Amino acid sequence: MADYAWRYGHEGVDLEELSRLYRIAPLGHKPPEALATVFGNSRYTCFVYAADVLVGAGRALADGGDCAYIADVAVHPDHQGRGLGADIIRKLLESARGHKKIILYANPGTESFYRRLGFLHMNTAMGVWADPERAVENGLLRPET
Ligand SMILES: CC(C)(COP(=O)(O)OP(=O)(O)OC[C@H]1O[C@@H](n2cnc3c(N)ncnc32)[C@H](O)[C@@H]1OP(=O)(O)O)[C@@H](O)C(=O)NCCC(=O)NCCS
Repeated sequence: MADYAWRYGHEGVDLEELSRLYRIAPLGHKPPEALATVFGNSRYTCFVYAADVLVGAGRALADGGDCAYIADVAVHPDHQGRGLGADIIRKLLESARGHKKIILYANPGTESFYRRLGFLHMNTAMGVWADPERAVENGLLRPET
């Protein structure tokens, strides 16, 4: 793989650059202040740089024993398809090793990407969303009938 530098821990990460990465990937609008909070509260974080440019990121919340939750995994389009996304997931899985379960929810369309990395569908996963209508529109939640 090309020369990528990996960084763990969010200290020193340019949150404007991280926000831009999510916009471009695309993984939505994530303002820098919100990223400071969620990355600051995540036990495991990783960032990938190509020649000092941020091209990949991901994080996992974890309670240290029972459950870890992987979120905000994205790779810059210029660097997608080179194995970087899979490597980010593998690093987060490795960091969270020992937890009884490591979970995530996939962006619709990316399920096979996670399936190949060992994730199985959860039969009873449910969630409370701040904006459930939007989550239904985006295919993340199933409307109750
Ligand atoms: C999804 C994403 C992180 C994958 O990163 P990537 O670096 O392009 O993926 P990789 O190169 O590591 O791909 C690994 C494998 O998954 C496959 N794959 C990649 N993206 C995929 C997708 N969106 N859907 C299904 N399979 C995918 C690749 O073909 C590859 O298969 P192979 O091992 O047979 O070659 C990246 O496309 C991305 O940032 N997308 C936008 C944001 C997003 O959807 N993030 C996921 C949030 S749940």
